[in-house]
Amino acid sequence: MEELQTIQWFPGHMTRTKRQIESQLRLIDAVAVLLDARIPYSSCNPDLRSVINNKPRIVILNKSDMADPTETKRWLSLFREKQIAAIALDCKSGKGLQQFIPTVKNVLSDRIKAWEAKGMTGRTIKVMVVGIPNVGKSSFINRMSKQNRAKAEDRPGVTRGNQWFTIGKGFDLLDTPGVLWPKFDDKLVGEKLAYIGSVRDEILDTEQLAGRLLEYLRDRYPASVCMRYKLTQEDISGLQGYELLHLVGKKRGMLITGGEVNTERAAAAVLDEFRSATLGRLTLDKAEEHKDVRI
Ligand code: G4P
Repeated sequence: MEELQTIQWFPGHMTRTKRQIESQLRLIDAVAVLLDARIPYSSCNPDLRSVINNKPRIVILNKSDMADPTETKRWLSLFREKQIAAIALDCKSGKGLQQFIPTVKNVLSDRIKAWEAKGMTGRTIKVMVVGIPNVGKSSFINRMSKQNRAKAEDRPGVTRGNQWFTIGKGFDLLDTPGVLWPKFDDKLVGEKLAYIGSVRDEILDTEQLAGRLLEYLRDRYPASVCMRYKLTQEDISGLQGYELLHLVGKKRGMLITGGEVNTERAAAAVLDEFRSATLGRLTLDKAEEHKDVRI
């Protein structure tokens, strides 16, 4: 299988984003780092740690409805082992959202006590929400605002400036100032971002991409591949990406005139089914392979 072309991001933006985040740091108490639960390692910006410095942080594994639940538990344990508070969310259904405010308060408990000792009871807690594009930041902020506004109807959803959102009594969220690009120079990371749809398909060879994804899933989630495409373990063992794609297309009856398999259509179907979790709840970054993850 040929190598995928290197995915081009725009490093220039990151310098600006870094500056924008740094300029807001003094206004906030904590940072909520949104990661995609299917690729917690690959969806984490490598420079973030140095930018947010010592600010208390809370990791949110979003889109957990599409990730392997066992693997999500392992990731949560890994972060907690590292003394980093972590929760899994599904902003589509709202599952897990109620954990967010208590988790932040727990992380900031010493600080809250210190504020109270100084008579600053009920001081507003301000949290910056960061994450790469498409990870679900807007969905998270919208969900949090709605959920809590419903509970406290006398509170209008005050927005201050462009990016501040009040999500509850004494609790504000700040959307990431700027665009936090993912790690773009690691080929494997780039591929995983492409699998989940974070890179526009127009700039990629989708047949190559789908083929590599099938190889990857065959090695890690063979049962899911077999079940979805009605194949046996024997059918798929030892095949290269393109051969797997060909097999899937054939099995699906995706043919072009002359009886050739339409691998382009097959590729679109495979990518679509992975991205919609029709192939199953699958996680591409395994916690045990990324024990050195740093946030
Ligand atoms: P961003 O601000 O970080 O860029 O992300 P945004 O909230 O716009 O979310 C990007 C996409 O991910 C949206 O889908 C959104 O619905 C979806 N999404 C966000 N959180 C979750 C989640 O927990 N689970 C699932 N399954 N999807 C989630 P979209 O296709 O762009 O739009 P739409 O489906 O809302 O129409």
